[in-house]
Amino acid sequence: MIVVPGVNSQELAYRVSKLANCKLLRTEFKRFPDGELYIRVLDNGAIENEDVVFIQSQRDQNDAVVESMLMSDILRDEGARSITFVASYMAYTRQDKKFNPGEPISIRVLAKIYSQLFDRVITINPHETHIKSFFEVPFICGSAVKELARHVKDRLKKPVVLSPDTGAVKLAKEAAEVIGCEYDYLEKTRISPTEIKIAPKNLDVKDRDVLIVDDIISTGETVATAIKMLKEQGANNILVACVHPVLIGDALNKLYTSGASEVIGTDTFPSPVSKVSVDRVIIELLKDAGF
Ligand code: R5P
Repeated sequence: MIVVPGVNSQELAYRVSKLANCKLLRTEFKRFPDGELYIRVLDNGAIENEDVVFIQSQRDQNDAVVESMLMSDILRDEGARSITFVASYMAYTRQDKKFNPGEPISIRVLAKIYSQLFDRVITINPHETHIKSFFEVPFICGSAVKELARHVKDRLKKPVVLSPDTGAVKLAKEAAEVIGCEYDYLEKTRISPTEIKIAPKNLDVKDRDVLIVDDIISTGETVATAIKMLKEQGANNILVACVHPVLIGDALNKLYTSGASEVIGTDTFPSPVSKVSVDRVIIELLKDAGF
């Protein structure tokens, strides 16, 4: 097995290659003057007959999709025996159904493309796992929530884990099992991509530390609203953990000014709060894939 990074996953790819004790390919990433992407793998000859693992955070969504196509073309041409695509953060997974007539199922069309480009696809905490049915090659997904929970476990007093919506309850349960505490959830309604409403709920959080767990924090509205509710009900420290810290614009500031004591994310989506690595999660998923 050999590893090749996407432009935004150079550190993560290095970490995985170290753990797997395998070669990390040398790459070049540039842009043409008009903005188009240029990528090159410099270790020609190293790819032939190899099982190549391409690790890419799709942080720059549209560029990442193009980068993945270009990388597949290089690797196939150079004679890779197989190509495994590890999209640590997979873009467009939230448009996994038609919410309104006239919309595409964005991840479905991308799944068709990836199925042509790669021999298998691995990702971490996709928004919903039903997207597996859109892939025509093996699709394996794992979770980084246990790593996040282990990272904060010893810092929480009288802890309780909370998911800010029903979609993340399974993540809250996973974290609570590691910490050995209770979990609860809130009920959120999304009004628009930037507006949400959370139904009032009395929670048993007075003088307790709360760990809020979500898969993605994007605008920060969901978690900031949850934090305000927890503060009003007398919660002590509120730690926020998410797998994919997308954190658009002022999202991080919004979380801290709402009362978060710390925000922790993973390196599926490199950001200033990516304090937990998913390197070992990827190694386990590669083992599940037969490596
Ligand atoms: C949605 O259901 C996800 O789990 C997240 O809660 C959501 O994407 C967060 O978005 P935002 O930070 O913009 O509220």
